[in-house]
Amino acid sequence: MKERTTELVDGLRHSVPYINAHHGKIFVILLTGAVLKSNNYSNIISDIGLLYSLGIKLVIVNGARNQIDESLKNHNITPRYHKSTRITDATTLDIIKQVTGSLQLNITASLSMCLNNTPLQGAHISVVSGNFVIAQPLGVDDGIDYCHTGKIRRINNEAIAEQLDRGSIVLLGPVGVSVTGESFNLISEDVAAEVAIRLKADKLIGFCAEQGVLDEHGCVITDLYPVDADNYVKQKEQQGKHLSSEVRFLRAASKVCRYGVRRSHLVSYLVDGSLLQELFSRDGIGTQVAMEHSEQIRSATINDIGGILELIRPLEEQGILVKRSREQLEIEIDKFTIIERDNMTIGCAALYPYSEEQMGEIACVAIHPEYRNSSRGDVLIDKLTERAKALGLKKIFVLTTRSIHWFREKGFNPAEVKDLPIKKKQLYNYQRNSKILMLDSL
Ligand SMILES: CC(C)(COP(=O)(O)OP(=O)(O)OC[C@H]1O[C@@H](n2cnc3c(N)ncnc32)[C@H](O)[C@@H]1OP(=O)(O)O)[C@@H](O)C(=O)NCCC(=O)NCCS
Repeated sequence: MKERTTELVDGLRHSVPYINAHHGKIFVILLTGAVLKSNNYSNIISDIGLLYSLGIKLVIVNGARNQIDESLKNHNITPRYHKSTRITDATTLDIIKQVTGSLQLNITASLSMCLNNTPLQGAHISVVSGNFVIAQPLGVDDGIDYCHTGKIRRINNEAIAEQLDRGSIVLLGPVGVSVTGESFNLISEDVAAEVAIRLKADKLIGFCAEQGVLDEHGCVITDLYPVDADNYVKQKEQQGKHLSSEVRFLRAASKVCRYGVRRSHLVSYLVDGSLLQELFSRDGIGTQVAMEHSEQIRSATINDIGGILELIRPLEEQGILVKRSREQLEIEIDKFTIIERDNMTIGCAALYPYSEEQMGEIACVAIHPEYRNSSRGDVLIDKLTERAKALGLKKIFVLTTRSIHWFREKGFNPAEVKDLPIKKKQLYNYQRNSKILMLDSL
């Protein structure tokens, strides 16, 4: 029982920062035809309900490729493509309209009950679909007329934003209307990407059959820059896999990222809860495409005090680090360098210069227990050494009770109280009896 309670408490503690961070943000979620067909679909819809109940503004874009192909097959129609793009003749368009219309009603129905397992159980959820996507014909290429296959002309983003502000979920399908009153078949990934860009969404989210983008060993790649995503897409195109759902999604993710959508996430539609795990845990579960790596090392600012305190308090309580008050931290914040991951401080260290003696003290080195043994401590010390050099310091030292060998392995040598700068000598706490370790040549 105790274990279960701890799991619950840990889970809550870890997810609360994300719940706060996501509140009021716009997420565009792409549900391809394969997702709509999967056994896990009802769980995904429930999780979407949970996102809604947490105050996230949602636009859902659905695809229908699998269902359209199935229906064409039932009508003995062979799908026609040119350069991997469907050619939509009049009969095909009729079928597409039937299929997407039916899917839209089904999704609306399942979204209507998606709050049942959330704190908003019993509340009415309004799902709005409409002529938000304006299309135009794709035209003729190499003499081939794409007929009713279209491309996006514009997105009525203000009308979508209005609906989101009213608390509605906006549902868009892969069919757009033209100003001439015609319907055009669109690529759902294009719709999702364009809507995310125009709405300045916080996230674009997609699903695939794998856990995310996999490397050659079958391991999930957790972070991709747009340029990596482009290379992956090129590689898959060369292998003839240009139509796979992750390739289509990565094209969209790379594009939206360059237009300012901060993050795109690709998770499995087969694993129950993968969407929540990706959005509410520090490391996620799938693949994230972002302009900047989710982890960065930088100088601390006053806004980082809360995060640093959270990181060092347990170590202070165990007597590993010397206690620092919030006020002291506020005064000394410019001495700190932190490692930040997804808006959370997972590492910190400080450098206190003693300019007269051209020496610097390294202190308060801490890496979050879940992120140890991956050289982050090493990286922090390197960064502080760089800072010390830039300040013209010649030596750095550290006072430590528990990490003697760790510093020794980095070239620090035992030193004595008499070797310390005068001010530090006066403050040396003989009772604590910390070991003094010094790096003599920077
Ligand atoms: C010390 C600390 C910063 C190291 O961070 P880290 O990112 O895990 O360190 P690295 O990945 O660069 O190094 C890991 C190696 O150091 C070893 N190591 C970690 N902590 C150590 C310690 N206190 N003493 C000796 N060796 C230690 C690990 O066993 C590992 O060795 P291995 O590579 O042979 O397996 C981290 O353990 C921590 O926050 N400790 C609590 C706070 C503390 O002691 N701070 C130092 C006083 S200022």
